[in-house]
Amino acid sequence: DAIDWDIASIELGGYAHFMQKEIFEQPESLRNTLRGRLMRDEGDARLNGLQLTDEEIRSFDRVLILGCGTSWHSALVGRHFIETLAGLPVDVEYASEFRYQRPLPLKNTLAVAVSQSGETADTLEAMKAARERGARVVGVVNAVGSSIAREAHGGIYLHAGPEVGVASTKAFTSQLAALLLLGLHLGRRRSLTVEQGREVVEAMAALPAMIEQTLKLDDELARIALTFSEASNALYLGRGVSFPVALEGALKLKEVSYAHAEGYPAAELKHGPIALIDDDMPVIVVAPADHIFSKVVSNVQEVRARGGQILVITTEGNRDLSAVADREVAVPATHELLSPLLTVVPLQLLAYHIAVLRGCDVDRPRNLAKSVTVE
Ligand code: G6P
Repeated sequence: DAIDWDIASIELGGYAHFMQKEIFEQPESLRNTLRGRLMRDEGDARLNGLQLTDEEIRSFDRVLILGCGTSWHSALVGRHFIETLAGLPVDVEYASEFRYQRPLPLKNTLAVAVSQSGETADTLEAMKAARERGARVVGVVNAVGSSIAREAHGGIYLHAGPEVGVASTKAFTSQLAALLLLGLHLGRRRSLTVEQGREVVEAMAALPAMIEQTLKLDDELARIALTFSEASNALYLGRGVSFPVALEGALKLKEVSYAHAEGYPAAELKHGPIALIDDDMPVIVVAPADHIFSKVVSNVQEVRARGGQILVITTEGNRDLSAVADREVAVPATHELLSPLLTVVPLQLLAYHIAVLRGCDVDRPRNLAKSVTVE
């Protein structure tokens, strides 16, 4: 009724939807995740809630990250963070699959349960299974005091604030920041040098302002959304750290606009999905300037030869892509490991604008729940 509506409009603070508000809150939510945790001189991360001794950290020989939906995508990005910074091999599993795996022992394993709500039933059960198999289990959780937070030995709270829109946005970037902090913390107790640590800390400290900068692409993405709004399919491509960003971009579009979208590692395209490409197919390529960029460009050329409406998300000051892309948007340059925190933002905005143009219920998409507390 009228009173509820008033409260909602106050909470929306001038935004049309919670999803939009939460996308624009990301500079702030990220600052909140990082607050008090970046140790500039030591090139380290202060994670008091983790409850792991240095000795324990040195005893791990593998990491296992568990999650569902967007949190599973964060885990896939987190793998790159932890493998690079801590030098530990990382496995990522869907919580729903992990819980029914053969219960082989998990020795010297740090298991990390990633969940915005802290109430996802599969993630909660998977962490119990991991513990029974011998892993030490920590949480990366937004909701304070939630079931997953209580079940964990220790963990990292996101402090991203409540997320209302069913499609996760600010929780994703905060999860990435928390997993970076974890990689840094583990790494500094293993073989990461103080100089290497400082480089990451400095880059992380600059991220909130860079997200602010990235959000200025909103008008441009609203215009690009007009050209894609009638498509019933889209392909999202990326490699390395950008592959999970492609998955997340595709998931955002599916969730809020009901268009079918798939994320693929760009080089896998030729093993099947390239058959789908015709002149109208939107192809969104996440291609920041990193060590794999030139490989991604070759993959985009394969698409180009077969049609497709190509939008590339790249880095400011990168080389001219007009020969391979129909459209291009650029995010600020950062440490190459950190690019997902920026490249995902245009994908969130794109999905949002397409959904609005299609008249969808952006904050409460059909058939979806904010937290899935049943198996
Ligand atoms: C639901 C939500 C997704 C979320 C997933 C995992 O499917 O709609 O947005 O990513 O659950 O939720 P969690 O709270 O565990 O991160």
